[in-house]
Amino acid sequence: MEVISAPEAMTAWSEARRKQDRRIALVPTMGYLHDGHLSLIRWAVERAEDAVVSIFVNPTQFGPQEDFGAYPRDMERDLALCRRAGTRVVFAPEVEDMYPAGFQTVVSVKEVSRPLCGATRPGHFDGVATVVTKLFTIVRPHWGVFGEKDYQQLLVIKRFTRDLNLGVEVVGRPTLREPDGLAMSSRNKYLTPEQRPSALSLSRSLALAEELVAKGEREAESILRKIRDMIEATPGTEIDYAELRDPETLVQVNRVDKPALLALAVKVGRARLIDNRIIG
Ligand code: PAF
Repeated sequence: MEVISAPEAMTAWSEARRKQDRRIALVPTMGYLHDGHLSLIRWAVERAEDAVVSIFVNPTQFGPQEDFGAYPRDMERDLALCRRAGTRVVFAPEVEDMYPAGFQTVVSVKEVSRPLCGATRPGHFDGVATVVTKLFTIVRPHWGVFGEKDYQQLLVIKRFTRDLNLGVEVVGRPTLREPDGLAMSSRNKYLTPEQRPSALSLSRSLALAEELVAKGEREAESILRKIRDMIEATPGTEIDYAELRDPETLVQVNRVDKPALLALAVKVGRARLIDNRIIG
């Protein structure tokens, strides 16, 4: 396994592989890898001749009051996990490699970036769209592989990849969960043992919504009220949003007469957790 930090060297490596008709799958990450990331890497290793993992904590997708400085990092462990999983290259640039002095371009997706995390984390998706566009143009993969836990992020990435003709197939893979249902996330590290049970209010809400719809409830307002009541009754939680939206456009839905996305963001102590499920 090679570790490359210079964007030009990464592109040269990919170009040489492409000339040999080898297909490349890229798994973009911010490191501190968990089993969810490893399932994406396994998909990449199985599907493509060359699996590339990028590890880059991208400053432009964090707001000024967010956890960029504190975001968990462990490069040595990440490299060992990538090597064991069969990764061919880890692309690990420095911030100055990605955003050299004078950098002033932003990739911005209009509609699907606006609600949910776009509303509560202004500028977040511009940061994601810009860095993923750069990763796609530097690594030149055939596939880009992402987790469905970040459902809105996946929609944003699919949108600009199509709009800008980037020629990458964007693949979404299912969320991996701990045995008790908590969606795997690098930010779960922030949870104290006392807060850990409260974090289950997200996966329980998804199950509750499914149960309500299975019993015939269709009114979004009623479903969301029950979910909010349940989360608010859980100690140490603060709802950022709990919404039912169209899974393609993210427009708000009033009734669940066809599949709808239940999207949740809840703060539990220092951790802002997200989860989602398509219900109905
Ligand atoms: O999902 C993430 O880890 C990040 O948002 C991504 C896609 C690697 C961009 O920095």
